[in-house]
Amino acid sequence: MSQVTQQRILRDCDTYYIREARPEEVETLLKMFKKDMSSKWVDHYHNLPGKKFALIVVDKETNQPIGGIERVVDSENATGVGLAVLKGFRGKGIGTTLLKVMDEELKEMGVKCIATVPVSKKAAKFLKENGYEYEEFIKAFLSATGRSNRLVYGFAAAGMERYL
Ligand SMILES: CC(C)(COP(=O)(O)OP(=O)(O)OC[C@H]1O[C@@H](n2cnc3c(N)ncnc32)[C@H](O)[C@@H]1OP(=O)(O)O)[C@@H](O)C(=O)NCCC(=O)NCCS
Repeated sequence: MSQVTQQRILRDCDTYYIREARPEEVETLLKMFKKDMSSKWVDHYHNLPGKKFALIVVDKETNQPIGGIERVVDSENATGVGLAVLKGFRGKGIGTTLLKVMDEELKEMGVKCIATVPVSKKAAKFLKENGYEYEEFIKAFLSATGRSNRLVYGFAAAGMERYL
């Protein structure tokens, strides 16, 4: 019998597929995240208590990973570790599909709320378009001060969350 555990394909597209990452592939994903995100932050979130759950995007032509996402699941809550698509493959809908597949899987696992911190203004916009909102205290701050959303875009501590 093969040593490699067969992973369930979660999404099969023309040029790529998405499946759960094997434990030995997670390091590759963390390196990918660290190209655009602070290395310390990625390690901090990766080491939070809970079950690590990572998905990988594999390019069908080369059989190489071109993107991935990791969340740490603790009971009904999940926390974002990282999400990235390699530069040459961005802007084709892969990131959106990856985020959606992860959210669907978390919902099936019984997760009720996903919290994550966007790394940039673009990332915050991307999350917002996919159903994430700023945490309650940030929304309360914006409403109390009459300030615009734009002020908190890209602010590292401005966490976003999505209730499933
Ligand atoms: C964010 C990211 C995963 C999106 O992947 P993708 O495959 O390009 O996503 P999609 O093709 O589904 O595009 C969705 C949106 O991503 C946004 N986007 C494009 N480039 C981006 C970038 N460098 N960083 C963040 N968002 C970006 C665009 O607003 C795009 O929306 P549009 O279609 O209206 O232009 C990818 O850009 C990336 O790896 N960025 C660097 C790491 C990062 O920012 N991660 C998010 C952490 S919260």
